[in-house]
Amino acid sequence: MQERFPSDSITVLTDLVLPGETNPLNNLFGGELLARMDRAASITARRHSRRVCVTASVNHVAFNRAIPLGSVVTVEAKVSRTFKTSMEIFIDVWIEDRESGIKNKANEAIYTFVAVDETGRPVEVPAIVPQTEEEKKRFEAALRRKQLSLVLAGKMKPHEATELKALFMQE
Ligand SMILES: CC(C)(COP(=O)(O)OP(=O)(O)OC[C@H]1O[C@@H](n2cnc3c(N)ncnc32)[C@H](O)[C@@H]1OP(=O)(O)O)[C@@H](O)C(=O)NCCC(=O)NCCS
Repeated sequence: MQERFPSDSITVLTDLVLPGETNPLNNLFGGELLARMDRAASITARRHSRRVCVTASVNHVAFNRAIPLGSVVTVEAKVSRTFKTSMEIFIDVWIEDRESGIKNKANEAIYTFVAVDETGRPVEVPAIVPQTEEEKKRFEAALRRKQLSLVLAGKMKPHEATELKALFMQE
């Protein structure tokens, strides 16, 4: 199967925060942001694998900054690593300053998608080749994140998570 680059499947969704999408503090409702991230990540997974893809797990979400009503929000989703049938998708969320146009990072998340056939059975995906320094760093750490996710889901025994365990042994 032909290897692909993260830039081949990157998805960038830009949209406003409207009144129906906020919490009582007039900031973007967390569930709405999760949905936007899921949509962007699912398009990226589909572009990379050219298959139907399902969300297998949400491994990490950090709501570092509130996103006020009226903000222009950009959600950028990229494949950070592929395994056999699963893909880790890294999502960065930016808010655009109205006057300067400068984008500031607000949040990030890491989702795992699995490519499936018509019957919902997992199928193999093409490998990813990271290009930039950031892509290489995220690729490198993804195996430990997969192991942690599988251990937490009860799908891997802690003693089998070799690379994850090694992280805690470092001085
Ligand atoms: C995701 C799903 C296809 C996995 O099916 P499964 O029978 O567990 O299949 P497998 O055990 O072969 O796992 C498939 C891949 O997913 C990975 N995976 C499964 N659960 C995972 C988890 N919690 N975290 C990280 N990876 C996970 C496995 O490691 C495997 O990866 P690999 O082939 O790249 O090594 C299946 O559980 C499913 O269809 N879930 C519902 C998905 C859905 O509806 N999502 C929308 C949410 S409402």
